[in-house]
Amino acid sequence: MQRVLITGGCGFIGSNLVRYILRNRPDWHVVNVDLLTYAGNLENTEGLEQAYGSRYSFARGDISDERFIEELFSRNKFDLVLNLAAESHVDRSIEGAGVFVKTNVLGVQVLLDAALRHGTGRFLQVSTDEVYGSLGAGGSFHEGLPLAPNSPYSATKAAADLLVKAYVHTHGMDAVITRCSNNYGPYQFPEKLIPLMVVNALNDKDLPVYGDGRNVRDWIHVEDHCRGIVVVAERGRTGEVYNLGGDSERENIEIVRAICRRLGKPETLIRFVKDRPGHDFRYAMDHSKISRELGWEPEIGFEEGLDSTIAWYLENRRWWERIISGDYRQYYERMYGSRERL
Ligand code: NAD
Ligand code: DAU
Repeated sequence: MQRVLITGGCGFIGSNLVRYILRNRPDWHVVNVDLLTYAGNLENTEGLEQAYGSRYSFARGDISDERFIEELFSRNKFDLVLNLAAESHVDRSIEGAGVFVKTNVLGVQVLLDAALRHGTGRFLQVSTDEVYGSLGAGGSFHEGLPLAPNSPYSATKAAADLLVKAYVHTHGMDAVITRCSNNYGPYQFPEKLIPLMVVNALNDKDLPVYGDGRNVRDWIHVEDHCRGIVVVAERGRTGEVYNLGGDSERENIEIVRAICRRLGKPETLIRFVKDRPGHDFRYAMDHSKISRELGWEPEIGFEEGLDSTIAWYLENRRWWERIISGDYRQYYERMYGSRERL
């Protein structure tokens, strides 16, 4: 039996990962710790206690709260920690970086120290392609590149990666890092590109595209990311970084047009608006290392994944309607209300 701590398990990727593990690793017991920030939602894990009994439990708490984490690790002997808890939205990090440093850097240090003190088997840090910075029209990110983050969000993720590597080097800790490209799929909070456009289009609202819409992201279905995290947790070499990507580069404007087409909405809803400050131009992942060493490949094609994701948002209207009728309204007004049109 593996006792696994998943942090951030009520967020988008975390909740998909919790379900993936409970379904695919019958001998793993999952403790999900989540602070339930604006992005954490207990509806994302609804029904898991009943479905999986003692294999799943939840505790609300802050990964940067030393006392809480110490008590958690004293009560549980974890074989594995999968750290997904984070502030994850670039635009919010531009509004204010404080909470990003607290959760994404201090939180990681608190977890690493607890894992070290309590002899946790393995620590896996879920990181991002954004730590590599931005690409021009050609090339892709490989693990040997220097870190060159551009946003406050990605700077905190890069800082965490460096801390993890330092604990491996200095303390001989068994830790690994995954860096993944842009995820999409069910339960993604509608502040991110794909769900924001789906939800706005369904409500016949403007579709705010930053700048000229030519920025490129490499899209991966969340299920492929979750499978990759588990593969690295089980078989990744200690101290190593593994890139994961979807082999699906798309310009933002292509994505927004594809969503309009699928929902039967007119492209006249599209509005080109003032660009994100410091907007990274392009991300593309070279995932040949994990493919070669661990046999992982992305399996869900973008067209198929986008179809099933849109179907999920259509079938789960109440989930996102509840979100956008709450504090999200103030966020949306701050971020988009007076944003200059181009
Ligand atoms: P998310 O914002 O949907 O979820 C984050 C979760 O962390 C939420 O449930 C939130 O309540 C929780 N959380 C925040 N601060 C916390 C704290 N101090 N203590 C405990 N819990 C806290 O994010 P996501 O998109 O699911 O991303 C998960 C992880 O994956 C993050 O580390 C992110 O950097 C990384 N990542 C995301 C993507 C992507 O495309 N979304 C790609 C690569 C890597
Ligand atoms: O690359 C991995 C990263 O992907 C993760 O580490 C982050 O946690 C995640 O938020 C995501 O970051 P991005 O900034 O790439 O994702 P976002 O969905 O915010 O934006 C995707 C692209 O779409 C980006 O070029 C900005 C653009 N965009 C976004 C929004 C929200 C728009 O044009 N309009 C919008 O309203």
